[in-house]
Amino acid sequence: MTEVHALPLHELRKRKSVKWRQFPSDVLPLPVAEMDFPIAEPIKSALHDMVDRSDTGYLGPFPEMFEAFAHFSQLRWKWSVDVSHMRIATDVGVGTVEVLRTLIGRGEKVMLNSPVYDNMWRWVAEVEATLVDVPLTNENGEYSLDLNNIEREYRDGVKVHILCHPHNPVGAIFTSDSLSQLASLAKRYGVHIISDEIHGPLVFERRDFTPFLAVSDDAKDVGVTVTSASKGFNLAGLKCAVIVTSSAAIREKINSMPISVAFRASLFGAVAATAAFRDSDSWLDGVVSTLNQNRELIRNLIDTKIPAIKYRAPDFGYLAWLDLSALQLGDDPAKTILERGKLALNGGHMYGPRNAQYVRMNFGTSPEIITEAFDRIMKSL
Ligand SMILES: Cc1ncc(COP(=O)(O)O)c(C=O)c1O
Repeated sequence: MTEVHALPLHELRKRKSVKWRQFPSDVLPLPVAEMDFPIAEPIKSALHDMVDRSDTGYLGPFPEMFEAFAHFSQLRWKWSVDVSHMRIATDVGVGTVEVLRTLIGRGEKVMLNSPVYDNMWRWVAEVEATLVDVPLTNENGEYSLDLNNIEREYRDGVKVHILCHPHNPVGAIFTSDSLSQLASLAKRYGVHIISDEIHGPLVFERRDFTPFLAVSDDAKDVGVTVTSASKGFNLAGLKCAVIVTSSAAIREKINSMPISVAFRASLFGAVAATAAFRDSDSWLDGVVSTLNQNRELIRNLIDTKIPAIKYRAPDFGYLAWLDLSALQLGDDPAKTILERGKLALNGGHMYGPRNAQYVRMNFGTSPEIITEAFDRIMKSL
């Protein structure tokens, strides 16, 4: 395992990505989902090699990325994926939107489960579908799928369900048992499930995560997975995602996607994703280990500094979903904390109704920055 530590703040402030450009320099930015770690060496050298040879043209056929993803899925989750069942898309957002276009017509119903990744709401709007939100069940911070209400809405005409698996922002991984029940319901009511598995590489316990298409035969019949190396390996700017199917019938629909869906992805993205999925396992283990320490640090900081914050350590990744209702920071705690404490977090209202008292904090960074973030929340009280 490679040890992976965040870059120092003065280096991070030189970055040109949105996380570091969006706010003035007195603000500590922990909103958008980018990590503050150096990327894996195999990815760096693959990209350097491209630049050195001025290999900066369009993306064409790229079977090595599919092979790398199949290798990675087998290694991490014992999921065998057939390389002939994969397609490339620009990113997970574009991939999901284009898959939606092949599965439904304007006005048809698409389900989300709030609180959920904010752009998913925009994807549904982009294809002019009718949104159906069946909120997750929340029992003392333990979130799960509300299968009864999901079944009712499936029966009532939902055509596609976008599953966030693992689920951003609440930090939950759905059990394979609940996913298998979900797949049976989808099969019974003729619903397609698009499973966004972008955070899958970052799960803390690999055995807790079952890729949707590996859950059951029903899941294979109803599911399409859209994923990429961009969250797990911090490559969001490079633009390359993968769409995976198991069902011939769904594949036939997806084959109607314009060919531009593939060539609008980037050659740099495909090269980087190949190096990520094929050669960067040790780096990924190092990141997951560092994140594991960070999620514990947050537990300690809350216990010692602000115990009124409710926090359930997430099952994956670097997003902490914090319930600030007891702090009485007004209608929009994220705004109050930005104004008073100069700390940028994502407000819970971004992820759906009824979540305004939550914030999402990005802890893919150093212990110093996380500690400073809690000091800034204290300053805001
Ligand atoms: C669940 C989820 N899906 C998709 C994305 C964005 O992926 P992309 O940049 O590949 O569209 C994110 C980014 O944070 C995410 O959390």
